[in-house]
Amino acid sequence: MQRLQKVLAMSGIASRRKCERLISDGKVKVNGQIINKLWMKVDPEVDIIEADGQQIIWKNQNKVYLLLNKPEGYITTVKDTHGRKTVMDLLPANLGRIYPVGRLDSSTTGLLLFTNDGELTYALTHPKHKFNKTYLACIRGALKDDSIKALENGILLEDGLTSKAKVKIVKTNPSTSLVKITIHEGKKRQVRRMFKSIGHPVISLKRIAMGFLTLNGVPEGKYRYLTLTEVQRLKNMYQNNIKN
Ligand code: URA
Repeated sequence: MQRLQKVLAMSGIASRRKCERLISDGKVKVNGQIINKLWMKVDPEVDIIEADGQQIIWKNQNKVYLLLNKPEGYITTVKDTHGRKTVMDLLPANLGRIYPVGRLDSSTTGLLLFTNDGELTYALTHPKHKFNKTYLACIRGALKDDSIKALENGILLEDGLTSKAKVKIVKTNPSTSLVKITIHEGKKRQVRRMFKSIGHPVISLKRIAMGFLTLNGVPEGKYRYLTLTEVQRLKNMYQNNIKN
């Protein structure tokens, strides 16, 4: 038996907090009865649960999808043999085996997805799907037009030419620039190496979006479950080979 709001959130209809609100607002029924108390425990295998008039699909319960706003200083690994802080320390312990989709450097902050859906992980990290990742980079120096062109045309790194990036200067002054950069590859430390190779070392880096997913409403160090619609949209993207 599990708490009703947890079952609702795990089935992907909304975040845990929104599910709690749905319950308090009297929009959730269990076996045909409105339940507006948060302490209710249910058996999703047996009970018929409806939220906003729609029966939840529990077969999704063993697939977990969540989005973390990673703070600085956490390494992207499931287990660290040196006892350092890992991104898993920021997630509930009872989720079973879930894995990060790609990785962020320890000093990079921002959006990191987690799932136990190997097919989705594979699809989102495969270069052929060109899944966009957008970063906000604070770099040394003022970024000039020729450097923007270089990033947009691809930068030759030691492990090959990067594909074309989308670049937008958010603000700039002689000593630093804030730049929004979108890439779809996942080479190791790619953004840092791209800027370094054109003479603009990165001071700080934050991933602000992956495809249509953003950090909106998720404070640093916190996570939220993806909604069923978001999961479906991600799956449609790669099944239909849709570009972002
Ligand atoms: N590029 C980097 O350089 N670091 C990251 O963490 C992600 C992308």
